[in-house]
Amino acid sequence: MEYRGYDSAGIGYVLQKKLEVIKACGKLHNLREQCAKEAQALTVSTALGHTRWATHGAPCVKNAHPHVSQDGRLALVHNGIIENFLELKAELLTQGYSFQSDTDSEVLVNLISQALKEEQDLVKALQKALQRAHGAYAICVLDQETPNVLYACKQQAPLICGLGIGENFIASDIPAFLNYTREVLFLEDHELLRLTPHSYELLKLDDLTPIKRDTKEIQWSMQAAQKGGYRHFMLKEIFEQPKVITDCLAGRLGANYRVLLPELDAQAIPKHLHIVACGTSYHAGLWAAHLFQSIAKVPTTVEIASEFRYKEELLLDAHCDQLLVISQSGETADTLAALDMANAIKIPTIGLCNVLGSSIARSAKAVIYTQAGPEISVASTKAMTSQMLLLTCMALYYAQRKECLKASVAQEFFDKLQALPQILEAQLPSMQERAKQLARKFAKSQSFFYLGRGFCFPLALEGALKLKELSYIHAEGYPAGEMKHGPIALIDPTFPTFVLAPIDQLLYPKIKSNLVEIQARQGQVIALTNPGSDLEHCERWEIPAFAGPLAAFLLLPCLQLFSYEVADYLGCDVDQPRNLAKSVTVE
Ligand code: F6R
Repeated sequence: MEYRGYDSAGIGYVLQKKLEVIKACGKLHNLREQCAKEAQALTVSTALGHTRWATHGAPCVKNAHPHVSQDGRLALVHNGIIENFLELKAELLTQGYSFQSDTDSEVLVNLISQALKEEQDLVKALQKALQRAHGAYAICVLDQETPNVLYACKQQAPLICGLGIGENFIASDIPAFLNYTREVLFLEDHELLRLTPHSYELLKLDDLTPIKRDTKEIQWSMQAAQKGGYRHFMLKEIFEQPKVITDCLAGRLGANYRVLLPELDAQAIPKHLHIVACGTSYHAGLWAAHLFQSIAKVPTTVEIASEFRYKEELLLDAHCDQLLVISQSGETADTLAALDMANAIKIPTIGLCNVLGSSIARSAKAVIYTQAGPEISVASTKAMTSQMLLLTCMALYYAQRKECLKASVAQEFFDKLQALPQILEAQLPSMQERAKQLARKFAKSQSFFYLGRGFCFPLALEGALKLKELSYIHAEGYPAGEMKHGPIALIDPTFPTFVLAPIDQLLYPKIKSNLVEIQARQGQVIALTNPGSDLEHCERWEIPAFAGPLAAFLLLPCLQLFSYEVADYLGCDVDQPRNLAKSVTVE
């Protein structure tokens, strides 16, 4: 399961009636070495293991799973986020519980342990405790008193059961047991599984009545299974975006249409925000600048980290300016250097990162985590979506603190953001189909322009970056209005242009005339637009219209899919393009 998380790992088992746990930080081989040291000649029939991708608490041994209840009786592994864990923790603290880790998972195991004291029966205790836990989870529990049984339950997080001969498995994904069995029982939300090596019992969590369900036979190869059946991690990560949006919004949209970003509550609102990042993260920043300015009325500049860090003078003022660095990995050397410079002159800093406990997350004064999960493919996709989402939340949050956002506008944003995952989920298959058609037609091009205006310009830059890094086709992103200042000289029938042309009142007519100018020079055009568009003599790619800048959440996956399909058609190594590394930790 390491591809789902690899910052720490652990196992738990019962040996001679005693619950034991072994944990290690870093990749799985560290745990293997630790096990060899701590538990030679270990033979147990039932065990519990977990590879972690930190969401609460830094990646370190104490925060690795399994987590053990205070009385030492229960071990629990957990994926997901318990949104009300602070409230539950406070309650348990008053009852004398203490905690070894910073995780929500340790709170959950103690909540179950507390319920077990009242109920005596673990199934009933699970039912009682889980009624109080809000959020998403998939959990598995081992009880010292019944060492041959595993208990599992899920809510909005994947959990499946593999049924073998004389051996059964619980996992969050198929590759965990594909070498042992292909027979799978899929759990639904609010169901509880009681599993032994020879039997299983599936119950409704609400009333503990039994559920009958047929198992399914999986035909995947091991390699396909790791990618969830997708040909590449990149494609899997593109298709994960609806879930990423849901995960990023969890706990952010509060009552009365107020955005919750407690990470920023202690900081003043910037008078001037400086966003610094590299590559795709820089494009997310450029896009967000439109929102910071239009919604929150915060003047915003966006700079590439390798340029920012070598400015002769920073000219920043600790009372007015704040620095926001954006980084998926949290380890990009130039971005980290820019952050260190701002910290050194006491400018308030904020880090927006995906990797918990990363260098940038540790150095920034305030940290906001995106909830994109591990991004394996070198080309960044779902991370950008998660960054744009949290940046939208930040803009709304600042606007609300400044009291410059009407309640009706906030409500409209909430409605649109909440509707997004479903809309995107429904659109992705047809987007891929259209991307495939267009890729076949244009894959042999030597060069490409990507044009956009307003919030679509950063997306044009991102579209061009994705195409060049994946398929090695020369591509340039331009603000469409700049074409006539030089670049249009390049246009001829072999030099196609990808135009971002969502229909809006102000910029659509402008981009339409840019398109006509290109066509007048016999340039071929792909126009990404909405139904009702009157763009002619081009490859029209229509996707549903969506509110203002938030349309980016539908436009971006089209750009990603087009590059993916071109690269795949050309036989390029999609997940590991030549000359590139996932995190750029050197200058
Ligand atoms: C492009 C890509 C890179 C990264 C850049 C910054 O697909 O992945 O351009 O966006 O190297 O990386 P982070 O966000 O980790 O700082």
